[in-house]
Amino acid sequence: MTLNYPTFSLQGRKALVTGASRGIGQALAQGLAHAGADVAVAARNEQDLQTSLTAIRALGRKGVALSLDVTDLAAIRAGVDAACQQLDGLDILINNAGIEQVCPSLDVDEALWDRILDTNLKGAFFCAQAAARIMTENTGGSIVNVCSLTSEVGVPTATPYGSSKSGLLGMTRALATEWARHDIRVNAIAPGYFRTALTEVFYQDDNWQQAMLEKIPQRRFGKLEDLLGAVVFLCADSAAYINGQMLTIDGGYMASI
Ligand code: NAI
Repeated sequence: MTLNYPTFSLQGRKALVTGASRGIGQALAQGLAHAGADVAVAARNEQDLQTSLTAIRALGRKGVALSLDVTDLAAIRAGVDAACQQLDGLDILINNAGIEQVCPSLDVDEALWDRILDTNLKGAFFCAQAAARIMTENTGGSIVNVCSLTSEVGVPTATPYGSSKSGLLGMTRALATEWARHDIRVNAIAPGYFRTALTEVFYQDDNWQQAMLEKIPQRRFGKLEDLLGAVVFLCADSAAYINGQMLTIDGGYMASI
């Protein structure tokens, strides 16, 4: 039997990662570079991207820093075009930028709702659209949306966030079906519990940490490197026939509830 064996290499691929100045986005950008991709890192403030750029270049890849606020549609179009121009192509988009603010649902006001939904869902959609307009003219591509366990389960006081991340999963599935004919695959990851600036407030509470650890079958929180294999796999030819899926990376948490 002659088989084309899978490749996990991203050699020659050109990637854009939003919200890449710190946390998960910064780690994913490095993971893609390590697998061979040239990477454009984007954040609201270009100055915050120096550490990310240095890490990408230390891995021997081309790195480009871009200012891109995902709530600004004009900035999205300009940023995605700039990434394509400076990297000489665009094959991969990681929709990572995201925010959260816990709030009892009875107290959520329109401004909070809009801020979270505009960043996590609307921003991701228009980044995907801008990237896909380029990918459809070339040889296709791969989009990975950073979802969440709240894409699938309810969490009290996280209604706007959970709504945005459930929406992002729905968007992942819809775009996967629509853009498959352009050779654009759209998938998602759902990180479990990772300690970053976004979640630091929870980790300040030892009781919360203990309670959570008891619920996670692997009895530890996620390390940023735990996310890299999944994203590289989804972007590479190894996942050539995987489309519209969300891969959960949570130490077994979702399997146990
Ligand atoms: P973080 O707060 O460290 O990073 C979020 C990034 O998004 C930052 O670079 C921030 O500047 C950027 N960002 C926020 N608003 C933006 C905007 N309007 N335009 C451009 N960039 C913007 O948080 P973390 O944990 O690294 O989160 C990354 C993604 O992972 C988010 O989408 C979050 O919802 C998701 N996630 C995180 C989990 C965790 O346990 N930390 C669990 C599940 C999902």
